[in-house]
Amino acid sequence: MSLDSLQLLFFKNYDEAALRLSPGLNCFIGDNGSGKTNLLDAIHYLSLTKSAISASDSLSIKQGADFFVVKGVFSTNSEPEHETIQVSLRQGQKKTLTHDKQPYERMADHIGRYPAVLISPYDTDLIRQGSEERRKYFDSLMAQLDHQFLELLISYNALLRQRNAVLKQGGDRSSHGFDREYLLALDEQLAPLGQQLTVLREAFLSEYVPIFQRHYQQLADGREAVTLTYKSELLGADFAQLLRANERRDFALQRSTTGSHRDDFVFLMEDIPVKSHASQGQQKSFAIALKLAQFEMLAARQQQKPLLLLDDIFDRLDDKRIARLLELVADETFGQVFLTDTNLERTDQALARVTIPILRFRVQNGVVAAV
Ligand SMILES: Nc1ncnc2c1ncn2[C@@H]1O[C@H](COP(=O)(O)OP(=O)(O)O)[C@@H](O)[C@H]1O
Ligand SMILES: [Mg+2]
Repeated sequence: MSLDSLQLLFFKNYDEAALRLSPGLNCFIGDNGSGKTNLLDAIHYLSLTKSAISASDSLSIKQGADFFVVKGVFSTNSEPEHETIQVSLRQGQKKTLTHDKQPYERMADHIGRYPAVLISPYDTDLIRQGSEERRKYFDSLMAQLDHQFLELLISYNALLRQRNAVLKQGGDRSSHGFDREYLLALDEQLAPLGQQLTVLREAFLSEYVPIFQRHYQQLADGREAVTLTYKSELLGADFAQLLRANERRDFALQRSTTGSHRDDFVFLMEDIPVKSHASQGQQKSFAIALKLAQFEMLAARQQQKPLLLLDDIFDRLDDKRIARLLELVADETFGQVFLTDTNLERTDQALARVTIPILRFRVQNGVVAAV
């Protein structure tokens, strides 16, 4: 699979843009703030129907405009040979996603069909930030790998929202009491879903961790042992019982204080948290290894290589880690690659020994053109 062309309308700092892309390596070169990462984000939209950066879709509409469109034509290995994906949003309306002009009924049906992996300077946020960041990351990866997991997660989240609404009403003194029967009915549905999420998250990690460890060892100088473990109140517990045991507290706090939505993934180096123990370099290796393992699992599961988006790697990584990434580009571990940099000469030097086809684009203040 590769992205043949990309078209933008009023997307972030672009009025319009139209690019024909290489199935090999595509380099976006330009000053800071010119719109390089925005191009990668547009590709992220085509893959995952959302931004990798902005929390809200409306932030992707160019300031002053009232809609955006991102359109991509993909080449596939199967019939039909070309498929057009379009994401668009008009201010105040629902986002639409079409496949060959046919709207998807559910965005979820698109997830995993055109996989992409982004390696960016912000990846170490996964280590430094709270559990929500890590849950989101692994949920998104598992959703791309396994549709059953995605369906389960959507159902779990919908029930959790209803449950929290009941808790809010119950705690609101102006309403007369709360509907405990309803809460119990919701919990009866929620409990098995949470339990299943735990099983799937555990199963996923048992496959993911060895791949991650191999990538870390290839990237890092040291021989330190790294791992990640799954942390959940539901492990070895009965979720239905947990829900009952916490009911009073839930009503007091007006939210669900126990469940799969509080799971975490703990990153360890020599059995100590990476966040507090590892050097900056080790943290960077850790984060890249997470992404390379993601790439490998997606590629294996779907028998097609994900698009690889490399944001600012020459600026933010040291030579050794850059060299490792470029080895993987050169030996064609990756398929189609998109990379950004501020300096054309540096990029050309770094890529001197890469033999796959390369296209260079100059990005200047929201205008992009092939060099
Ligand atoms: N919705 C938007 N409307 C207009 N400009 C935007 C919007 N979102 C982001 N930008 C602008 O895009 C520019 C950043 O682009 P980016 O792709 O991150 O640059 P870089 O080339 O450094 O990666 C910033 O100047 C930012 O203000
Ligand atoms: Mg950038």
